Amino acid sequence: MTPPRPLAAADRDAVRRFLAARWGSATILLDGRAIDAAALPGFVARDGDGVAALITLLDEREHCEIVTLDAASPRNGVGTALIELAAQRARTLGLRRLLTRTTNDNLDALRFYQRREFRLHRLVPGAIDLEREADPAIPLIGRHGIALRDEISLIRDLD
Ligand SMILES: CC(C)(COP(=O)(O)OP(=O)(O)OC[C@H]1O[C@@H](n2cnc3c(N)ncnc32)[C@H](O)[C@@H]1OP(=O)(O)O)[C@@H](O)C(=O)NCCC(=O)NCCS
Repeated sequence: MTPPRPLAAADRDAVRRFLAARWGSATILLDGRAIDAAALPGFVARDGDGVAALITLLDEREHCEIVTLDAASPRNGVGTALIELAAQRARTLGLRRLLTRTTNDNLDALRFYQRREFRLHRLVPGAIDLEREADPAIPLIGRHGIALRDEISLIRDLD
């Protein structure tokens, strides 16, 4: 695995394939808005022709949102490295907060983010149930056998 570095145009095809494999599609819904995560800036660790780990980022007026974060082989430290690169980049751009979203079943991500300076920010009960009405492929049961229903966002202050 290469060390994480900023995404370049030459990564786009591999990134699109990786996102499709991890999330079903590179199109991610944020508050009902369809975002093409494969076209966003971010950081990548490559593994030959493939992607070993990826973070994609959406810059808003005052904050940067993590749209996707994935490590193909977890617990190697690359997820933490990607978060720190995203925080550094956001600071350089003058953005004050790093925002991320996850789902109520993703206890690993909730733990991961809270151990990396993120705080719980917003709960949207039923957000995933609503997304499922438009996309029935979203499973009813998520990680750890927990019903997949709600969206939780977390924020890390960069000041
Ligand atoms: C969440 C995710 C991105 C974390 O990435 P990761 O590369 O596993 O993260 P890290 O390896 O940096 O840290 C994970 C844990 O492994 C530990 N770890 C890191 N390197 C390690 C090593 N060499 N040996 C043992 N443990 C190690 C870290 O300490 C950390 O545990 P901690 O939270 O108790 O400190 C990854 O698990 C993932 O892809 N999950 C599925 C997708 C997902 O849920 N995305 C985010 C929400 S949308």
